[in-house]
Amino acid sequence: MKEQIQALVDRVKAVQNLSDLENLRIEAIGKKGILTQQFATLKNLEGEAKKAFAKEINELKELFENALSEAKTQILQKDIQEKLAKESIDASLFSTLRKTSYGHPIHQTMDKIIDFFVGMNFSLCTGPLVEDDFHNFEALNLPKSHPARDMADTFYFKDSMLLRTHTSPVQIRAMKSKSLPIAMIAPGNVFRRDYDLTHSPMFHQVEGLVVEQKDKVSFVHLKFILEDFLHYMFGDVKIRFRSSFFPFTEPSAEVDISCVFCEGAGCRVCSHTGWLEVLGCGIVNQKVFEAVDYKDVSGYAFGLGVERFAMLIHRVNDLRSFFETDLRVLEQF
Ligand code: PHE
Repeated sequence: MKEQIQALVDRVKAVQNLSDLENLRIEAIGKKGILTQQFATLKNLEGEAKKAFAKEINELKELFENALSEAKTQILQKDIQEKLAKESIDASLFSTLRKTSYGHPIHQTMDKIIDFFVGMNFSLCTGPLVEDDFHNFEALNLPKSHPARDMADTFYFKDSMLLRTHTSPVQIRAMKSKSLPIAMIAPGNVFRRDYDLTHSPMFHQVEGLVVEQKDKVSFVHLKFILEDFLHYMFGDVKIRFRSSFFPFTEPSAEVDISCVFCEGAGCRVCSHTGWLEVLGCGIVNQKVFEAVDYKDVSGYAFGLGVERFAMLIHRVNDLRSFFETDLRVLEQF
């Protein structure tokens, strides 16, 4: 018996995991365990013999239980050590934890603009970022001497290719590839040699163009849709159309909204005028239609800067904070 228990104790010492340990416990002191059965035989003994045997099996039980609890502690210790070794933290590593993203504020604003016009049945158009002189300038009635072609504004490549300075060249591409009626918007990046609080060398515009048969499209349509659009973007603001000039539209207008910072009272942001300029628009110049061989048509166009919209919507006064990829800033949107 003693050998039997000693063998069990040896096995207990060699055990590597808790479930094997539990099996050994059952083998020894479970309901039908070796020691348990020995205890049952006590009732057949009497006197000194009973006492002596009881003492012996109690000692064996104690021996076994001590071995058991020691083995258990060792296994638990070993598990913890293994776990700690596996879970060691390298504080110098980049976090791979991903946070839920709601998109960059520029794209959020762009998406909201696109949603409005898609809801109005406009289609989406794109054009290349590296444009030729014809699409970016010539076809848009920007003659060779026009100041907008100045080297100071435009990034040129060697072979008279350039980075598009606005999304208006997509007007030309849309008219060349589509048939009437056209109602399209063209969101995308544009490039100018500008860098300060409110300008960055790369920014985003959304162009709009509607072309129909002659006399079907007028300034009234343009005004109606832009008013609806600006209320959708900025809520309850006042809107005014101010006569202006663009080579590719005639007549042309710039559109102002009442200042979102001071509600029209006058502040530094609106230069104490109470108004903020938000987009350019007009009736498509016949010269533009001539450049794409369109006859007997009428149309309107508009263009806006997405960064400017995002700045006004989120009350951001330094455009550069959108591009500095500082997560502490971007997480606020
Ligand atoms: N392309 C003009 C700009 O970049 C905006 C504009 C587009 C104005 C269409 C009128 C019509 O400023």
